[in-house]
Amino acid sequence: MTEPKDMSNRIPESFIQELVLRTDIVQLIDAYVPLKKAGRHFVACCPFHNEKTPSFSVNSQKQFYHCFGCGASGNVISFLMNYSRKSFLEAVDMLAARLGLSVPQDEYQAKQAKHTSLYDVLRAAMDFYRRELEQNETAKAYLQKRGIDAQTAQRFALGVAPGQWDRLHHHLMDKKFSSESIAAVGLSLRSEHGREYDRFRARLIFPIRDRRGRPLGFGGRSMSPDVEPKYLNSPETPVFHKGGELYGLYEAEQATRTLEYLIVVEGYMDVIALSQHGIANVVATLGTATTGEHLQKLFRLTTQVIFCFDGDNAGQKAAWRALETALPALSDGREVKFIFLPQSEDPDSLVRSQGKEAFEGYLNQALPLSSFFFKHLSGSLNLETPDGRAKLVSLANPLLEKLPAGAFRTLMLDELAKKTHLSLISVQKIVATQEESTPHQRVETSHARKTPLRLGVALLVQYPHLVQYIENKNIFEEVVVAGIELFGAIVTYLQTHSAQTTASLLEHWRDKTEGRYLERLAAEELMIPETGVQAEFKGILLYLQKLAIEQAIERLWQKASQEGLSAEEKMRWQTLIQQQKNTEESKK
Ligand code: UTP
Ligand code: MN
Repeated sequence: MTEPKDMSNRIPESFIQELVLRTDIVQLIDAYVPLKKAGRHFVACCPFHNEKTPSFSVNSQKQFYHCFGCGASGNVISFLMNYSRKSFLEAVDMLAARLGLSVPQDEYQAKQAKHTSLYDVLRAAMDFYRRELEQNETAKAYLQKRGIDAQTAQRFALGVAPGQWDRLHHHLMDKKFSSESIAAVGLSLRSEHGREYDRFRARLIFPIRDRRGRPLGFGGRSMSPDVEPKYLNSPETPVFHKGGELYGLYEAEQATRTLEYLIVVEGYMDVIALSQHGIANVVATLGTATTGEHLQKLFRLTTQVIFCFDGDNAGQKAAWRALETALPALSDGREVKFIFLPQSEDPDSLVRSQGKEAFEGYLNQALPLSSFFFKHLSGSLNLETPDGRAKLVSLANPLLEKLPAGAFRTLMLDELAKKTHLSLISVQKIVATQEESTPHQRVETSHARKTPLRLGVALLVQYPHLVQYIENKNIFEEVVVAGIELFGAIVTYLQTHSAQTTASLLEHWRDKTEGRYLERLAAEELMIPETGVQAEFKGILLYLQKLAIEQAIERLWQKASQEGLSAEEKMRWQTLIQQQKNTEESKK
């Protein structure tokens, strides 16, 4: 199921921190991926990508794992989310259970309890629709016409809504569900005269289930060409959020143990037909465009997502929208491809008329995102001319900016460089990194990579105890330098929360913009021996101190030359000059 993000915020952070601090990452991971000790670390072949020699390393001191091969990294919560495909809340639940703790969360629990009864209503409705199917000849004939066999109908828990006005409503009231809860899950509507009647009538019913198999909502298809609309869906409800759910995910996970890739199609019938023909790792969005939330969910389950669209104009448009949505999610190791079917075919019609192999043929020839990207953009351009090439740069630029830093991004820029006869360097200058647009993350850009402040942040993340050497807290208010806000925020956090590890620090930043950046710093090899860490950090503090003084003097100097200084300011200037001398000397 999808938990709205705000729910996770309702678990007190201190509790999550306690879980992270009390769970030993080596023990936890070892239970899933046997680890071997190698020096001060523990290693294994990486569970997140295929490899023969171990590059997956678990650091007991930092309570943090990192793969030098694929870049996967994180703490105990990230591990459970990525390895066991758990949601954040499920991971928290698991860790709490392991430690014998219960998740303290009144509001959350109350909400869960309320939802539980809504799930019960939905479950009862699903059972009702299924039983109705057993005796509904029209529906059975319709299924047969659509080529769906009984076993597949079972597997997808298909049902039928009877044609009368309120059979389901009566049935659920008999079962002692309240009319409020029936309305809350979208199963009943109220007439002008205040009478309640069923939303779904005389329709084939497709239950939309979460990953645990609980129905969240329904799709209903009319079985006669003159009943409009063709499909009717449950509305958004407290438990059903269309922008986050994928039809067929539960059934796909039931049918295939490992989801090497996931195919995303447009319709319920497409999912069912492919699944019946042995292509079971397939899901559909619910009559909406693919959202970022969908992609997050998909990439939590697999590394390869294949979108399948009709070959017509609408299909091309939908594919391009999916591409735009996918760009920000394309960190290294993730792949997106596109299949375009011939005009007037959809996966359902194709697999039924031409069979599994024919569909697999399209699958094997799926267009990589990079090809679709450049093909689509250069479609109407003449790249033989400088004008055409310049136009390509201006079209590609705002899109490529969305790609996260990494090898894939560089390859895409390289491709753009080749197509436009520009150097990679020029292209890199044109296409700004996302990080540059937010001041907090500016430290991340390549020319600023090696700034002392970046090293300072990396040291703090890797060795949180260093915070004790910070004496002058004012530095963070006085100095103007890229990245200082983040440095200051980490210091403040560490000073107000004792006994932090790298893992718990990262946990605090999990959903914040800088979280991924900090995670990368946590995994970085700093090339500083453990014994030199403290001295290095003090050096950075001294550098900041000097910079603060320099900048303060500069400000006074400006003011002196423009409007003159007060007596007080003159004194301060003297003090600063003296301090500057002192720091110079302490450096020697
Ligand atoms: P399509 O119109 O492509 O239908 O809608 P389909 O999946 O091929 O259905 P069949 O084969 O005619 O039965 C694709 C998806 O868009 C949503 C549904 O989720 C559908 O599966 N849709 C379509 C609606 O929500 N409402 C509609 O009226 C039509
Ligand atoms: Mn169809």
